[in-house]
Amino acid sequence: MLNGPGLGESSADGARRACAELCRELGLQLDFRQSDDAAQMCRWMADDSAGADGVIINPASRAHAGIAGSLDYRAAVLSLALSHRPVVEVHLDNIFAPGVDDAPPPFAARGDMGLVCGLGRQGYLLAIRAVASRLGIDGSPVRLRKHSPAPQTVYVINGPNLNLLGTREPELYGTTSLQTIEARCREKAAGTGLELRFFQSNHEGAIVDCIQEAIDVAQGVVINAAAYTHTSVAIHDALRAFAGFKLELHVSNPHLREPFRHISYVAPAVDAVVAGLGVLAYELVVELMAGVLDGGAAPGAA
Ligand code: DQA
Repeated sequence: MLNGPGLGESSADGARRACAELCRELGLQLDFRQSDDAAQMCRWMADDSAGADGVIINPASRAHAGIAGSLDYRAAVLSLALSHRPVVEVHLDNIFAPGVDDAPPPFAARGDMGLVCGLGRQGYLLAIRAVASRLGIDGSPVRLRKHSPAPQTVYVINGPNLNLLGTREPELYGTTSLQTIEARCREKAAGTGLELRFFQSNHEGAIVDCIQEAIDVAQGVVINAAAYTHTSVAIHDALRAFAGFKLELHVSNPHLREPFRHISYVAPAVDAVVAGLGVLAYELVVELMAGVLDGGAAPGAA
């Protein structure tokens, strides 16, 4: 796990402890590193990580984009991303939030990388679970925080063509149906006090209606707006009207695909983004929500 410039010792320390604990539970060996030195990071990416089965990288904070944007640095990230291992890019904050950065994420549009941002340290834990799963290690459900017995309601909203998951472009989206995903999520939520409401529609207005319904009754929304992600101002506006915790989810990583998928109208309106981790992301996010929404803990807080 490589942490780049700007992620100094104090913030790295807490993250290291939490990651080490989860890796121990999963039987993974964690090599956690942090450096403010771009050349050092390049060496770690290019050479030292060669023996690792998976890599999680927080490339840099925006303040250090100058360093981390260098050609060498980008080349090292590229070689990492093309190394045919699970690689997940993690950012503590939502790099798509308005005022944070108008530019595309620095590295997501490279090779075989998943993207997790806006979940603070919990993003590292989610990434570890995703890497472990790619390595065939499923582990028991992780309660990232203690849950309270008070029921919390989370809407899981799915946009156009996601009713075809399982048969639609399986090389991109896998062979698991939306019904199976829902059943797995319900299993994860069972006994946590989290109430899930699944919704799928091929119609933009119906999705807007569903978000509006959530405003009154839900504390969280997980949304895979599918193709509407890249077009819908109406969904953006509806999400902005929802005050609870909001997370954008994609099975694939749109930043690795056609340029028209690189724009998300959803990302600036949500707290966090998880993309490119396959359908497993739904379950991981439900586990996370079961903890994140507890006790008013600020989602994404480090
Ligand atoms: C998707 C990515 C979108 O670009 C696409 O239009 C989808 C699915 C995903 O989950 O990877 O329909 O949201």
